[in-house]
Amino acid sequence: MKNDNFYITTPIYYVNDKPHIGHAYTTILADVLARYHRLINVPTWFLTGTDEHGQKVQRAAEAAGMTPQQQADDTVGRFQALWQKLEVTNDDFIRTTEPRHQVVVQKILQELFDRDEIYRDEFEGWYCVTCERFYTEKDLVEGNCPEPGCGRAVERITEPNYFFRMSKYQQWLIDYIEANPTFIQPDFRRNETLGFLRKELTDLCISRPKSRMGWGIELPFDADFVTYVWFDALVNYISAAGYLSDDEQFASLWPATYHLIGKDILTTHTVYWPTMLKAMGLPMPQTVFAHGWWLVGRDKMSKTAGNVVNPMEFADQYGVDAFRYFLMAEMSLGQDASFTEEAFIRRYNTDLANDLGNMLSRVTKLIGSYFDGVIPTPQEPGEAEALLRDTTLKAAEALVSSVERMRPDQGLHGLSAVVREANRYMEVRQPWTLAKDEATHADAGTVLYYAAEALRIVSGMLYPVMPGKMSELRSALGLLPGAPVFADLHEWGLLKPGAPIQKMKILFPRIQVPKSNDKAAVATDKPKAKPAAKPAPQGVSMIEFTDFTKVKLRTARVLEAEKVEGADKLLRLQIDLGEEQRQIVAGVALHYAPEALVGKTIVVVANLKPATIRKVDSNGMLLAASSGDQLRLITVDGDMPAGSSVG
Ligand code: ME8
Ligand code: MG
Repeated sequence: MKNDNFYITTPIYYVNDKPHIGHAYTTILADVLARYHRLINVPTWFLTGTDEHGQKVQRAAEAAGMTPQQQADDTVGRFQALWQKLEVTNDDFIRTTEPRHQVVVQKILQELFDRDEIYRDEFEGWYCVTCERFYTEKDLVEGNCPEPGCGRAVERITEPNYFFRMSKYQQWLIDYIEANPTFIQPDFRRNETLGFLRKELTDLCISRPKSRMGWGIELPFDADFVTYVWFDALVNYISAAGYLSDDEQFASLWPATYHLIGKDILTTHTVYWPTMLKAMGLPMPQTVFAHGWWLVGRDKMSKTAGNVVNPMEFADQYGVDAFRYFLMAEMSLGQDASFTEEAFIRRYNTDLANDLGNMLSRVTKLIGSYFDGVIPTPQEPGEAEALLRDTTLKAAEALVSSVERMRPDQGLHGLSAVVREANRYMEVRQPWTLAKDEATHADAGTVLYYAAEALRIVSGMLYPVMPGKMSELRSALGLLPGAPVFADLHEWGLLKPGAPIQKMKILFPRIQVPKSNDKAAVATDKPKAKPAAKPAPQGVSMIEFTDFTKVKLRTARVLEAEKVEGADKLLRLQIDLGEEQRQIVAGVALHYAPEALVGKTIVVVANLKPATIRKVDSNGMLLAASSGDQLRLITVDGDMPAGSSVG
């Protein structure tokens, strides 16, 4: 039944106010999914737009001293400018005040009226002005609007109105949802709709008397009324696709592959919309996917709370690509997620600045210094090379399937793991050492070739999420800017030895966290001047197990390392302990170059009293083994999250 096209939609947003981060999220998610499908050569159509009628917009216009149309024209510009800024590649943008939409809504209404799917009746009920919905006595919660998140007082209203015979489709809809488990996703949202459908469904009031609310599409069969805003808005998904205007386009697009929505508008999309389509005799969209809510910290975002994040300003400050990446990596689709500047900076500094950006600058710098700035020729791969290749190709596969499963966050985490792996590979192989010796110079070339290949594939796979930065990264490797060729991302060894690479500025400059955020680093601490004590003589001072458990050992990832000025032996490390970031000072500078530590997972004593060493705060101590003048860090065998307990 479904054609081969990937047709994806976002909700059309109300133009009562400027866009916020929630709007940006759904639209970026749709963009990322659209870009992936284009990458894998699936014909793709991506629709977004604005919902311009109804009470909300009319009220906003009144408050601003404008006509509703002026209010809409004004605000739609803000949405369009934002999408342009955020590199959103929608194929169409529909406004519900456009004639192409209004005409279709009226045709549908007339036809349903003629077929007695819509009828006139005297109506009495409880009305919520904010939600623009009528409720029965039973619906109300403690006498107030039952809509989650609303709960406002309702008004008693009696008036003639027009109704869509929604109730007659109740059993059909239940059966349809049960027979088509992918129709509503995630599963728990399907259950929510089925729960809603356990109550008796009423017919849907689809008109508003102009005397009360005049801003809408006039009913074609009664000029005293306009159309209820949801009956108008939902139709955008088909009016924009060419329903009743361009049969060929409509046949190629409908049914939609995904209606992406937030959980706030589940009922309208999984009860009103399917019954409307059924009455029109149209097939159902393949999947209505409801994602969770972005909270700010733990709170709901709201104007009254004053915590609304402005996506335009955020992207200006931190970069469009990083903003897109954060939104995609941070939210597990379906669940709520928390947006804070702190969380953004943490993820940015870890995934982008330290891992990906650092990897690129290491590789390009070393190729520049030791291989005349051209891609080196690789030798036969050893075990480590084969492992890096396989891990990378596997992560590329996994990303594709994560997109199919609507879990792009998982695929992205897989790619981050590859970058960490590649950084580790470099640390183990130490191309900077190999390159200095003529006997091992060629081996350094192999290492850099493999690392660059991992970057080529990872950057291609990240392209739909960060088109700008990944284009830059790929240019640095001497690749063509713009979208990669998908097949190339599943094949190893496509970088051409001898091809020039390009010098570039730092791709993701580290964001300095204001010092005041280092709450843990308040006071002085007693760090580890010497991590490597002499081996304790056998049998000396036995301790009880309970003594040992006082020492909190944790894994930590090294985010940054630099020399402490004026102290030959000391490195200052920024470490990630899972829950928090800390600074420690470690006496390992004679044994490790700072850049060799970044990305390593080490073991630290997490509950050591803070100390100051050479005027530098230290907040914990790392563990190392030492013998004579040898010293090696204690690291973890395999991948463990930062902050795991050790003992
Ligand atoms: O409901 N977190 O428009 P709207 C995540 N015009 N997503 C959020 C969000 C948040 N905190 N806040 C909003 C309407 N969204 C109707 C839709 S469709 C035929 C008509 C996103 O401007 C999410 O996608 O209130 C949510 O469903 C949508 O914005 C609501 O936008
Ligand atoms: Mg809303």
